[in-house]
Amino acid sequence: AKITFITQDNIPVIVEGESGSVMALAVENNVAGIDGDCGGVCSCATCHVHVTKEQFDLVSEASEIEKDMLELDDDANEYSRLCCQIDITEQLDGLVLTVAG
Ligand code: FES
Repeated sequence: AKITFITQDNIPVIVEGESGSVMALAVENNVAGIDGDCGGVCSCATCHVHVTKEQFDLVSEASEIEKDMLELDDDANEYSRLCCQIDITEQLDGLVLTVAG
């Protein structure tokens, strides 16, 4: 699936991946602002992204653990996700994610 990250500097970065987590794909491609410090176990929130309202159905709701993490983040909103918790599937093709602050 092709996924576009909009960085904090407003630069679109288009990456493509078949499997694994969206965070891992971002880190592999050096997407600025996605650090993945905890290695993808939902405990650092350095992979925080905002999904658009229109595309939120593609990625589904955050889990309870993920929501608890997001609550600690000032930049979180109802369309926030920790992208280590999103698995890449073909369904995500065309997804646009904004890197959160
Ligand atoms: Fe740490 Fe996603 S990589 S919460």
